[in-house]
Amino acid sequence: MFNINPFADLAQSIPSILMQTFVLLMFLLIVIGTIFDIIHKKNVKYFFENAKKAKKNAKIELSTSKKTSVILKTVTNEILTTSELGRGKRRIAHLLGMYGTILFWVTSIIMIFFYSEKNSITPSIYPVLWHLGAVMTCLGGYWFWFFLRVDVSAEAYPWYRIIQADLFVLSLVISATFGIIWSFLQSANILFFDTLFFVLFCLSNIVLFGGIYWSKFAHMFYKPGAAIQRNLAEADGSRDNLPEPSNKPKQFGLGIKREAPKHY
Ligand code: HEM
Repeated sequence: MFNINPFADLAQSIPSILMQTFVLLMFLLIVIGTIFDIIHKKNVKYFFENAKKAKKNAKIELSTSKKTSVILKTVTNEILTTSELGRGKRRIAHLLGMYGTILFWVTSIIMIFFYSEKNSITPSIYPVLWHLGAVMTCLGGYWFWFFLRVDVSAEAYPWYRIIQADLFVLSLVISATFGIIWSFLQSANILFFDTLFFVLFCLSNIVLFGGIYWSKFAHMFYKPGAAIQRNLAEADGSRDNLPEPSNKPKQFGLGIKREAPKHY
């Protein structure tokens, strides 16, 4: 199963052009969903207005090379490692989910666009990485869902309480889960159920990409943008119009450090 390209097998019953059209439609849904999300939340408008205001308060004019170095450092030290999640489980779960999803999506695109003809021979690295990506997404996503979600870990809600904010994580892990099950059933040639799980796999993808306006999907674009802006503002001294960090906890003792902050 792990070294079989499920899309090449699928090509026996569905023309590869149809699979490629589905991927392009999902891409279109990302663009449309993100644009509507930006219009609705007005976050990009706020972001640029804030950046303009901060520029006025800049104490240092950053050269292009300094800006480039700040951006590169943010990408390598913060975005690629999601360092804002600290050193604990939350970050490990997120890294598993994030890199798993990237592997799953990139290898899906490669296999659908280059190796989904009836007679195509897929280098086994792609299906292996596709399954690995799906498994990593499930590990990170279910770990987050069952144990790390703020509602469960800090607010004592049961794991089965579902709210709109869960749309992203749930549709993400469910699409990866259905992908694995479909691949298994298809490689084991278990008729009817392979079709059933293929349909569920498609539907969960439509919910994931079609639900962007209502979900947290777009954080993968906003978070890197915000991190870069924050570090540029730090480097040019404008500090996002915020004051210098206070040293009061040091002055008044370490009481603030007695318990890890988790009462959100
Ligand atoms: C393919 C890219 C990514 C995927 C698949 C992904 C996936 C996820 C998922 C499933 C969640 C849980 C959502 C929820 O609260 O229900 C999450 C939360 C989060 N993500 Fe990402 N993410 C990606 C990229 C990023 C990037 C680039 C950053 C930061 C630079 C980031 C920072 C965060 C943060 C801070 C949270 C909140 C975590 C928490 O509440 O514990 N993510 N992400």
